[in-house]
Amino acid sequence: MKKIRIAIVGAGETGTPLLRQLLDASFVDVVGVADLSDEQPGMVLARGRDIRTTHDFMDFARQGDAIDIVIDVTGVTKVRDALRHHYQESGNTHTIIMHELIAVLLMSLSQGRLVGTKHGQVDYR
Ligand SMILES: NC(=O)c1ccc[n+]([C@@H]2O[C@H](COP(=O)([O-])OP(=O)(O)OC[C@H]3O[C@@H](n4cnc5c(N)ncnc54)[C@H](O)[C@@H]3O)[C@@H](O)[C@H]2O)c1
Repeated sequence: MKKIRIAIVGAGETGTPLLRQLLDASFVDVVGVADLSDEQPGMVLARGRDIRTTHDFMDFARQGDAIDIVIDVTGVTKVRDALRHHYQESGNTHTIIMHELIAVLLMSLSQGRLVGTKHGQVDYR
């Protein structure tokens, strides 16, 4: 079976543990990680594992349906809007944009408890 091809936008507090889990999954192909800063932990982790990094998340949009899921964990409305707009304009009905609540849900399921947020709603370790 084909691996699930995934890109991550936002290599901070939410993106990094998620990236770590995805890198450990044999059925996932992490095609790239985007962040504005090379120093963010997920960017460092990606480089260490020879995963492509970029400052331009639209690189992933331009790859069209070669990417199955773009995980947007920036928390930045403009990023989400730009991705949605591109997929609509280009007629890409394949690629899914996955947002941070789903990321938190998946991490919580794998840990058996709700992993929280530095923004004060729930406790994150
Ligand atoms: N940290 C948590 O535990 C947690 C839990 C639940 C929900 N969330 C939500 O997840 C989202 C992200 O939170 P976080 O704590 O990971 O924040 P964070 O600041 O640690 O990470 C966000 C990253 O996105 C990057 N970014 C911003 N604009 C970008 C752009 N244009 N292109 C590429 N990268 C860009 C930033 O450089 C940063 O590294 C927020 O919406 C937050 O509310 C976070």
